[in-house]
Amino acid sequence: MPLLGVNIDHVATIRQARRGNEPDPVHAAVLAELGGADAITVHLREDRRHIQDRDVRILRDTVRVRLNLEMAVSDEITRFALQTRPDQATLVPERREEITTEGGLDVITHEQRVRQCVDQLQGAGILVSLFIDPDVAQVQKARELGVEAVELHTGAYADARGKSSVDREFERLREAGMFACSQGLILNLGHGLNYQNVTRVAQIHGVHELNIGHSIVSQAVLVGFERAVREMKLLVAG
Ligand code: PXP
Repeated sequence: MPLLGVNIDHVATIRQARRGNEPDPVHAAVLAELGGADAITVHLREDRRHIQDRDVRILRDTVRVRLNLEMAVSDEITRFALQTRPDQATLVPERREEITTEGGLDVITHEQRVRQCVDQLQGAGILVSLFIDPDVAQVQKARELGVEAVELHTGAYADARGKSSVDREFERLREAGMFACSQGLILNLGHGLNYQNVTRVAQIHGVHELNIGHSIVSQAVLVGFERAVREMKLLVAG
């Protein structure tokens, strides 16, 4: 049974819509842990569009499960990671030119930069995962780079429409996943997974962890909305 990493970026997206202090992703992390999250994931983007430096610093102190920092292969963010020391860093693309066809980090084209970043992070005792396409050549390069884990991009599977397309994308995940396991890599999956499409990928042999964000935050807004309105109604009614 795979573990669940909960990505709380979009709690911060809602906060940043007003540049205020609610909802606080730190609070969401506590609730995610109470709900059974095995890891808390945040992406500190170079433009700071959702998660802020302060969030990661506080989460580093408060998260009791693993803290997984998604990050670009950038000097500035790498320095931040080396100071903050998350348990795990997942290298993801942020710029158009770093992306492969499906949207994973192209670790073949950017081998040198990725290697430098991986070495620095591993030198600080941080476990490194690479977010790549479900492509054997990318997995092979990840293996050569000496990382502990890969996260295969499930976006093409999640976006596929019609049984034959879904089956084809699922097979790509399964085959690349099998290859990753055969190479001794920890196998994680993520992006675009939701309450409808998760069950099938959760059954892929050897999957260690699924990283899910947007659909959990979306569901939380809906399942929590009625209660939130009732609580406000009581206050308004006096
Ligand atoms: N894994 C990685 C590497 C990601 O970049 C993201 C999106 O931030 C996710 C998983 C979660 O994707 P989603 O929000 O679609 O569940």
